[in-house]
Amino acid sequence: MRRRPEASASPNNEPSKADRKDLDQPLQSQAEARGRLSYTSVLLNIGKCLLLIIIIPPFLNYASLQREGQMLLPKDGQIVDVGLGQKMHLLCKGQGKPVVILDGPTGTSSDIWVHVQESVATLTKVCTYDRMGLGFSKRLMQNESTGTEKVWGMSTTGRMVDDLHRLLQAAGIAKPFILVGSELGAFNSRFYSHIHDVHVSDLVLIDPIPEDIFEEDQWKQHWYGKLLPSLQARQFSAATGLSRMLIILGVIEPTIKGENVLEDVIQRQKYLLSNPAHQSSAVDEHYFLNESAAQVRDITKFKPLSSRTSVTVIIGDSFDEQIPEDLNQMVAKLQKKFLEESYPSANHIHIKGADWRMIYKKPSAISQHLRRLLNQRQAKQQSE
Ligand SMILES: *[C@@H]1O[C@H](CO)[C@@H](O)[C@H](O)[C@H]1NC(C)=O
Ligand SMILES: *[C@@H]1O[C@H](CO)[C@@H](O)[C@H](O)[C@H]1NC(C)=O
Repeated sequence: MRRRPEASASPNNEPSKADRKDLDQPLQSQAEARGRLSYTSVLLNIGKCLLLIIIIPPFLNYASLQREGQMLLPKDGQIVDVGLGQKMHLLCKGQGKPVVILDGPTGTSSDIWVHVQESVATLTKVCTYDRMGLGFSKRLMQNESTGTEKVWGMSTTGRMVDDLHRLLQAAGIAKPFILVGSELGAFNSRFYSHIHDVHVSDLVLIDPIPEDIFEEDQWKQHWYGKLLPSLQARQFSAATGLSRMLIILGVIEPTIKGENVLEDVIQRQKYLLSNPAHQSSAVDEHYFLNESAAQVRDITKFKPLSSRTSVTVIIGDSFDEQIPEDLNQMVAKLQKKFLEESYPSANHIHIKGADWRMIYKKPSAISQHLRRLLNQRQAKQQSE
């Protein structure tokens, strides 16, 4: 018990009535103060908790991203200086010629090709890469302009092809090569083949997006009204560290999973899901897809493909199983139109029960056709 000096000041050691009143008052106000204090401390604690919730997850997320960014670079991956201050991630496997180059769908990293690459690498050298801003190809700071964005808008096909061309030159990739593009990757591959036709012996288009699709209001509504907002939400969730927590809780799962998927591929996908820089570039690629489409349409008209380049088109039952049937029919109709107009002698392959996800859901069907194409090309090379 605390001794109170006022109380002991009383001559007979027994507090008088007045004293007691004096004694009570401070006690009461002390209790009040204590009440106020605990009220404030509760508020303070809530504040601290909120602060923790708001600040700690993004902070932890950024700290982990720093560490993982170095740890998770694929074993065979190389960071190539492509000039103009840019560095890009190239991942090659296998040995031989012709080299196969794989370019993936909108907003995906090189891991999307993991199964196809493994299978084709037993026959030849096969390379995939991360487009600028995605995966392990870091985008430049805004003050470090390369100048190319003045010609081509950021995150458009023209720019991506310029980057890819410099990457393949810098890495000394043997030409001519087989260029395989899926979805947005098919835009890039077409653009590349039309411009640098002597570099591409064979062009393989997997679920190509028809360049006229953004003329259709219904499609624009789907792309900009539904798909884009969901990706922007994902970007926000990555930036706030929420994605990392949801991954830890098992609410969000990597796209490519299963028994035959290596642990580092799983870890890399989790890293990219919680990486706001990657997610932001994925949003940009989607956002500027109409510009990419317009560029491909112009280049196709302006410079037809060389007759020496073979074209193979691989298409599933639908473009995207998760969108309404009428949208899929619209894509199919426009696909047929541009293929007849621009690549009338293309070899057509249909893969049953597949949509654009076939490159990781039905990889053996894709690699089977790539292997056949390779065998033909290698036999031709030997006889020459
Ligand atoms: C761009 O800005 C970053 C930080 O804001 C700085 O570290 C970097 O040196 C700058 N680069 C150039 C080329 O000015
Ligand atoms: C692409 O869409 C944006 C926004 O809807 C629009 O401003 C731009 O003009 C479009 N570009 C083309 C080439 O249609």
